[in-house]
Amino acid sequence: MTRIRKAVFPVAGLGTRFLPATKSVTKEMLPLIDRPLIQYAVDEARAAGIDEFIFITSTGQSALETYFGRNSGLERKLKDGGKTTLLNRLRSTNLEDETYSFIQQDSPRGLGHAVSLARDVVGNEPFAVILPDDVIHAQRSVLAQMVKNFEGSHMIATQAVSSDRISAYGVVDIAQKSGQVQHLRGLVEKPSADQAPSEFGIVGRYLLQPTIFDRLDGLAPGAGNEIQLTDAIAADIGGVGCNGFAFHGERFDCGSVAGYLEATTVFALERAELRDGFQSMLRQRMNLLPVAA
Ligand code: UTP
Repeated sequence: MTRIRKAVFPVAGLGTRFLPATKSVTKEMLPLIDRPLIQYAVDEARAAGIDEFIFITSTGQSALETYFGRNSGLERKLKDGGKTTLLNRLRSTNLEDETYSFIQQDSPRGLGHAVSLARDVVGNEPFAVILPDDVIHAQRSVLAQMVKNFEGSHMIATQAVSSDRISAYGVVDIAQKSGQVQHLRGLVEKPSADQAPSEFGIVGRYLLQPTIFDRLDGLAPGAGNEIQLTDAIAADIGGVGCNGFAFHGERFDCGSVAGYLEATTVFALERAELRDGFQSMLRQRMNLLPVAA
């Protein structure tokens, strides 16, 4: 099994679907219950054996730096007050200085451009890319599932998408399947439903070979006039190749308000200390809704 040591977290997008909140709070810092989205992404990476975290940020993302740094004052207060559970919860978010870094993307020129900026820090080894706004609810870290099946080609997470939503996704063209692994012959960015080569859309988890940096180098802007990671991977299908991975788990698009609300509901119902109260509150609320005529 190939060891993946480094993960890149591109978090320099504008997050316009979450305005006005994202005017001052970046999207990856929005809390899902009581943890910011970025924490779920880091935990998923850790569970896959990753121990170096590279954040591609826009200007002024001090909240992210504050979040992963140590808050000695608050730690001391909680310790002095004997609040051990809270203290442990707080400390669990600290990252060791030498394990994380920030790279600034001056303007949001696209996901491909954001990833290309990590070239020097990643070096010549395979690495992961995680989009924190794609939150995945799974028994086992999706990235860990992927690492287990990763060989010489790039690998992207895929999920079946209904035909009325497929045009919002990058869609994989599958040559052959072997269990959850899909051997790809192509990728199509945002096809119309009748042009989609399969029902599988790309989700924000990637394991990439370092050849991707050469493919990204000088790549022309694609859809939305942005430098698209999908285009660089598609260009490498004749090179190192690319596999899709139909992961086990449920993905929520927390970059959209509807997806974020659904994730909040699912994760709250999962939490033992919240479940009963939340469930009965939801039931009461549903009963208050007028019955459709
Ligand atoms: P999105 O496509 O969700 O774009 O980016 P966005 O700008 O964040 O959100 P909207 O559409 O305006 O609401 C997917 C991921 O890629 C990162 C984003 O931060 C997000 O994690 N990204 C996107 C960058 O880091 N840089 C970019 O130039 C574009």
